[in-house]
Amino acid sequence: IAIRREDYAAPAYWIDTVDLTFDLDPAKTRVLNRMQMRRNSEVPVQPLRLDGDELNLARVLVNGQGASFRMEGEQLVIDGLPDSFELEIFTTCCPIKNTKLMGLFVSEDTFFTQCEAEGFRRITYFLDRPDVMASYTVTLRASKAAYPVLLSNGNLVEQGELPEGRHFAKWVDPFKKPSYLFALVAGKLVAREQRIKARNGKEHLLQVYVRAGDLDKTEHAMNSLINSVLWDEARFGLPLDLDRFMIVATSDFNMGAMENKGLNIFNTKYVLANQATATDADYSNIESVVGHEYFHNWSGDRVTCRDWFQLSLKEGLTVFRDQEFSQDLCADASARAVKRIEDVRVLRTAQFPEDAGPMAHPVRPDSYIEISNFYTVTIYEKGAEVVRMMQTLVGRKGFEAGITLYFERHDGQAVTCDDFAQAIADANPESELARLLPQFKRWYSQAGTPRLAAHGVYDAQNRSYTLSVVQSCPPTPGQPTKEPFVIPLNVGLLDASSGRELPLQLEGESEATHGTRTVVLSRAGEQITFTGLDAEPVPSILRGFSAPVILDFEYTDAQLLTLLANDPDPFNRWEAGQRLGLRAALNGIAALATDTTPVLNDAYIDAMRSVLRNPQLDAAFKELVLTLPSETYIAEQLDVVDPQRVHLVREAMRAQLATALFADWEWAYEQNHDTGAYSPDPTSSGRRALAGMALNFLCLAARASGDAVWPGKTLQRFKDAGNMTDRFNALNALVSSGHTLAAQALARFHAIFKDEALVIDKWFSLQAGAPDRGGDILPLVKQLMKHPDFSLKNPNRARSVIFSFCSANPGAFHRPDAAGYVFWSERVIELDAINPQVAARLARALDRWSKLAEPYRSAAREAIARVAAKPDLSKDTHEVVTRALAGN
Ligand code: ARG
Ligand code: ZN
Repeated sequence: IAIRREDYAAPAYWIDTVDLTFDLDPAKTRVLNRMQMRRNSEVPVQPLRLDGDELNLARVLVNGQGASFRMEGEQLVIDGLPDSFELEIFTTCCPIKNTKLMGLFVSEDTFFTQCEAEGFRRITYFLDRPDVMASYTVTLRASKAAYPVLLSNGNLVEQGELPEGRHFAKWVDPFKKPSYLFALVAGKLVAREQRIKARNGKEHLLQVYVRAGDLDKTEHAMNSLINSVLWDEARFGLPLDLDRFMIVATSDFNMGAMENKGLNIFNTKYVLANQATATDADYSNIESVVGHEYFHNWSGDRVTCRDWFQLSLKEGLTVFRDQEFSQDLCADASARAVKRIEDVRVLRTAQFPEDAGPMAHPVRPDSYIEISNFYTVTIYEKGAEVVRMMQTLVGRKGFEAGITLYFERHDGQAVTCDDFAQAIADANPESELARLLPQFKRWYSQAGTPRLAAHGVYDAQNRSYTLSVVQSCPPTPGQPTKEPFVIPLNVGLLDASSGRELPLQLEGESEATHGTRTVVLSRAGEQITFTGLDAEPVPSILRGFSAPVILDFEYTDAQLLTLLANDPDPFNRWEAGQRLGLRAALNGIAALATDTTPVLNDAYIDAMRSVLRNPQLDAAFKELVLTLPSETYIAEQLDVVDPQRVHLVREAMRAQLATALFADWEWAYEQNHDTGAYSPDPTSSGRRALAGMALNFLCLAARASGDAVWPGKTLQRFKDAGNMTDRFNALNALVSSGHTLAAQALARFHAIFKDEALVIDKWFSLQAGAPDRGGDILPLVKQLMKHPDFSLKNPNRARSVIFSFCSANPGAFHRPDAAGYVFWSERVIELDAINPQVAARLARALDRWSKLAEPYRSAAREAIARVAAKPDLSKDTHEVVTRALAGN
């Protein structure tokens, strides 16, 4: 049954205080829950309905007396309550059997919780909704030997010994919070600690808790946390409001991390790093996720969501904040641009397909069956783009004022996306955002990626250039038609012959300005006329990706080459290269190219050589330009997708780049491979990325020529590498070129890292994600699942094999014999019985089935139908597969 946004009603009761006592035991944990409650006088008198899930109820007392209650499904219902009362509930649960990893669970002999969105009801009966905010006191009792560390939200106020080798700790959270922010941790953990002084002189204790052997992998997370605290205070004036801020890592976690007040719980993947075991990408992800969870302390915890339809209120804003954080940590504009390009790449390869598929939903959805399914790239990344557009419309300073007003107005409240947009607009009454606010908010209500069809006409007589822009947005489930969006469009013009940036003067203006202009579109079609132009310029449109839209402009190859060589906007410079690559790929696909047809023309190859050799450009940026559009991104541009053809053409392009630029790759490798003492900063990680790319192409070229020199060098590099990035890149070069040396390198890698779970994940994922050659990956994946290190129950491990194959390796997954889809359906069903959230994620791998060419399309549909037909499917998986089937 669907929950609808329009059905929101305030809670019938409030919970003022919660006093929880846990007797922790893996098989039977006892939870005593004492709440001070009162009726919400603003809603009609009605029974109290508390949510519960898989709980064993032992006792219910109202004001200390036995009370009558009834069960309606999983809800505990009590009638005839006074206006205010104490409610005491005693339940037990079984953490060791909790494979869903929601509520209270055990991972490697340690207790953890995950309550967002609706996990708290698996711990005790409660009004498990974000608009019920209460003060929590938590007492944890457990065996001292087995669980020496006992943590919960807020401040530790008391601890001591108990009989029979047990001990206790009592925690009080000074801030009111919704139940989804509750957390506890109990186990054998150690912490890296750091005291820091805030601007106001207040001292805070920062702690990163891990298992004893992992302490040497916590430095980067701690540094990221310190940087986060300093940044939020410096950029937005938002201080740390707790004496103690804790991060705890667990290896069994459904998601990346969780922002529980003062006690963030993280997937180990986003905490643990040292140079021997973590790549540059890991370092950068850790920085982002540590920042993200820390920033939630304000955008999420101090001000939270009224209901789950408002999820993007906290997630979109917090992703925007973590993106800005990482950009602000960059030393220069080039590194900032690299970060922006990476973020846009995620949006376009993951969110655009979501927005075009059966799970498309607005940033603020109208309904859901299972809220866990809506922790999506739309809520997160598109939501962040919506916030970014607001910043573009009001300016950076204006946005900071808006954030200040938002937190002044709503501190301690559970609010809506409307409240957020209103605060930003109110702080900037003269802005385009304020002027267009109701229309701007269509970004929250309308799903689908808007398309801009732009067309330019030069008028030599008037020395003017007119850009016509028509916007449209395709239908999405439940939304057949769309109204125009407010679109901030950043534009510049380049001189076609010199490539130089031209001054901009709009029709009617008396003076020209230099650099980028933001034009605010709000109608279905508009025209922008630039004057004072001696020749037809090359327009640089949507600079910095100023709005989450698809821009169609019929650039000539020559124009794109001009932009690629000259655009001062690094995003559009990169984008010009992507457009050229995409064009070549689409032509190759249409022409039914074979694996020996040259797909790339000389102009493209020469342009790529110039980028690679350009002394003015940073290595990180070069690596992005030289990376071809992904198979997923190419497929999105097609109406009917033959995944094998896409794979073949893209592989042909890679092979061509490998051979045509062979000498350049050798040069690039020599120039970039030595990055000195390891540091994960953007400059040195960029050089490692480019060196890694060069090795990859050199091994690929060797595959074609039969040459043994570079594979040999690569193996040596693999053996000698001083850090995981170089080691992994070398291994990847051997594996993805399918070289015979790959086997021994893989074996050696496993032997070295057999005790490092996160590295073994990489080992699995590299193999399951390797380029398919003649259908060899699926049998390998099945083999990997039989490996003693494989486990379906551990989400990271399951993802490293199954998701790497089904979701990240289209050329291997989409087999003409349908065996990939059969494998997928079996795994979805198998996982669903263990962990519905993970199963439902995997189920999304076939979202785009209706775009597939035959025989893929029918086979995929059949596989989805097979899953949907399974009785007792979880709500999670059921919602995904039924929406997929309804899609066509
Ligand atoms: N709020 C967390 C974060 O983005 C994610 C929690 C996801 N929980 C879930 N049940 N899907 O930082
Ligand atoms: Zn978040």
